[in-house]
Amino acid sequence: MSKVTTQDFSRKKSDGRKITMLTAYDYPFARIVDEAGIDAILVGDSLGMVVQGLENTLPVTMDEMIYHTKLVSRAAKNAMVIGDMPFMSYQAGIDDSVRNAGRFLKEAGASAVKLEGGPEIADKIRALTRSNIPVMAHIGLTPQSIHRMGGYKVQGKTEESAQKLVEDALIIEDSGAFSLLLEAIPMDLAKEIAEKLSIPVIGIGAGPYCDGQVLVLHDVIGMFDRFVPKFVKRYANLKEEALNAIRTYREEIEKGIFPGEDQSFK
Ligand code: KIV
Repeated sequence: MSKVTTQDFSRKKSDGRKITMLTAYDYPFARIVDEAGIDAILVGDSLGMVVQGLENTLPVTMDEMIYHTKLVSRAAKNAMVIGDMPFMSYQAGIDDSVRNAGRFLKEAGASAVKLEGGPEIADKIRALTRSNIPVMAHIGLTPQSIHRMGGYKVQGKTEESAQKLVEDALIIEDSGAFSLLLEAIPMDLAKEIAEKLSIPVIGIGAGPYCDGQVLVLHDVIGMFDRFVPKFVKRYANLKEEALNAIRTYREEIEKGIFPGEDQSFK
């Protein structure tokens, strides 16, 4: 099997086949995600919350993103690796955005980058696309705008804000993005956007009518329980399993059961 490309994304949309995406931030989990046949791994700046234990994604740096993307790229044999551009790595200007996006491809082995924003980043999407850096844009609930939005809230609930999201999506497509991510918007609005756009639309908390879906890995496997958004479906409880295993390990040491003869040398 060869590596998933942006052309595979478009083909899947035109064939009506769903695109699967999941985040990962390190080598062991990226190997599992890749082996499971997921189309694309997003090295999300959500790592600030689920790996680094931060309150939000704003403090995550470019160097941290490059480090984690390298670990993931080493593991991903088939899945496309998408690097998430952290807060202030592209907002200040086009030069910054090209230089920083380029690092994801040049140093970290990613095939594409993701940027949060609508028309205000259209010039950056154009510049990156001209530099042969495929861009996934991200609108709706954009966690890097938490202070402007006043919290993690569903977006596009009024007629006016819904209309604005449709217009933003069309501008993003026109700017050259290969794909669009919609976060936390009503499902009928996501359906309208997915139908209007010819590029694939990936949803997180945007209902079933998108061309593909993405979730945060640690939510899916039950490794993050500080809060669980409504749109998350948990498929395993690895925290519970790890807790039980580590408690048993501790108890066996304390009772003199581990190490036994099997784990000892003669
Ligand atoms: O950072 C991230 O993991 C994301 C997802 C929420 C899509 O942007």
